[in-house]
Amino acid sequence: MSFIDIKNLNKYYSEGRNSFRALKDIDLQIEKGELLSVEGRSGAGKSTLLNIIGCIDSFDSGEYMLDGENIGRMSESKLASVRNSKIGYVFQDFCLVNHQSVLFNAMLPLFFNKTPYSAMKKLGMQALDKVGIADQAHKKANQLSGGQRQRVAVARAIVNSPSLILADEPTGALDSATSAQIMELLTSLNREGTTMIIVTHDKAVSDYCTRHIEIKDGVLSCLPQKSKDDAF
Ligand SMILES: Nc1ncnc2c1ncn2[C@@H]1O[C@H](COP(=O)(O)OP(=O)(O)OP(=O)(O)O)[C@@H](O)[C@H]1O
Ligand SMILES: [Mg+2]
Repeated sequence: MSFIDIKNLNKYYSEGRNSFRALKDIDLQIEKGELLSVEGRSGAGKSTLLNIIGCIDSFDSGEYMLDGENIGRMSESKLASVRNSKIGYVFQDFCLVNHQSVLFNAMLPLFFNKTPYSAMKKLGMQALDKVGIADQAHKKANQLSGGQRQRVAVARAIVNSPSLILADEPTGALDSATSAQIMELLTSLNREGTTMIIVTHDKAVSDYCTRHIEIKDGVLSCLPQKSKDDAF
């Protein structure tokens, strides 16, 4: 069985009396160690799919197996433990705790698995160092620029060494040089075995990925493999 195995999945949002079908009969298999891009226009359903894969949103029908576990049938507490032990998430709008320090934000996932404070601090600083922002550790998150906040969001996603990293436009607020640095970091984690799914509109980011899917009005399709010849 694949690391991620999604079959016939549907997601509806209620809109007053009506409901809106945001994801339509999604089938998707992802193997351990893949580096996948999710592309498509605004409103297509990319974040909705990523949130479901990240176990932070529910779905209405179909099946989702993650690493052999049936996510659709899991209790809320078991889901929380899966999120905490396996998944690192870079949110589209960062979702930082603004009035807390950069270090606090980077350490946040570790509060939930009872890591001793000294170890939390060490891991938090290591993650901040990896994204090149350790010197800002004691600033409040709301004192940072957009690009710096984005790096904190990446640090928080990698701090507990997850086996799956989900990143929703992880370079959306960055200039191209910083964006390349973040992608180098994410791809180096991928080479070490971390499975990675990246939502992006940016061709430069997509080019780092080895498989590409597209969502159009809630329907998933596979994009052709890019070959090196495409550049000519
Ligand atoms: N909580 C919600 N309640 C109702 N509708 C929602 C909700 N979240 C998303 N939607 C709708 O579902 C559709 C897909 O939204 P989603 O956020 O997944 O798009 P997206 O592909 O990530 O877009 P973007 O590139 O702009 O981030 C949109 O039409 C959106 O309006
Ligand atoms: Mg989105």
